[in-house]
Amino acid sequence: MKLESIWPLFGLEIAAPRIVLRPVRDEDLPGLAQAALAGVHEPDRMPFDPPWTDADPADLPRNLAEFQWSRRGKVSAADWTISFAVHFDGRIVGAQDVSARDFPARRTVNTGSWLTASVHGQGLGTEMRAAVLMFAFDELGAEWAESGAKSWNQASLGVSRKLGYELNGVTRVAPRSGEPVDEQRVRLEKTAFVRPDWAISTRGAAPVLAQLRIPVR
Ligand SMILES: CC(C)(COP(=O)(O)OP(=O)(O)OC[C@H]1O[C@@H](n2cnc3c(N)ncnc32)[C@H](O)[C@@H]1OP(=O)(O)O)[C@@H](O)C(=O)NCCC(=O)NCCS
Repeated sequence: MKLESIWPLFGLEIAAPRIVLRPVRDEDLPGLAQAALAGVHEPDRMPFDPPWTDADPADLPRNLAEFQWSRRGKVSAADWTISFAVHFDGRIVGAQDVSARDFPARRTVNTGSWLTASVHGQGLGTEMRAAVLMFAFDELGAEWAESGAKSWNQASLGVSRKLGYELNGVTRVAPRSGEPVDEQRVRLEKTAFVRPDWAISTRGAAPVLAQLRIPVR
């Protein structure tokens, strides 16, 4: 028996022009940890809540593994997270998550992502977000996508802007205790999605739809 017949998400693959997204497998954890340990952002400003990149480098790989395992253990028809490893140029360079809460009723996904610093600014952040949006809108049946970024995070907000998101209010967060910052929320309706001029090619989607109890469209 193959692993993906037990856990269909392990058989999913989304190919975009330069990157391939596959749900994180245990054998991807070292590559993912290496990409994170190499540096994801300037240390003076924290893009993540919780601030997982502040962990001691000795602890970060294990924390990352625990996070992945905890997400896998909570996949149900209503609530799920798919955490994709981003494969580029023969290595793992980051992660792109797509998650949902009460999906059958809300038809809304949330996304979050990061890339190792050495590959920032080449359009890969836009490519990976666009790829999961196409998958969510066109194959999972999502109608809305939401995200958010600290108001200083022009790279993340730049990705959202390019793909057509509208601003959706500001909230105050304090990922580092005692350091409150504004978070800009953003929201994208399927019909407003500024689609790139390429398409994704997906493998293993049908068993994932069955795993998430999403009727085939
Ligand atoms: C956010 C992130 C995934 C974006 O990926 P990226 O590959 O660097 O972004 P892109 O190259 O696709 O750029 C997207 C747009 O934002 C703009 N942009 C990128 N970096 C920018 C910066 N530092 N300042 C201003 N604009 C920036 C780009 O110009 C681009 O728009 P354009 O094509 O019209 O010029 C990546 O920068 C990252 O991992 N950052 C650290 C972690 C993080 O902040 N994660 C998100 C948490 S909400």
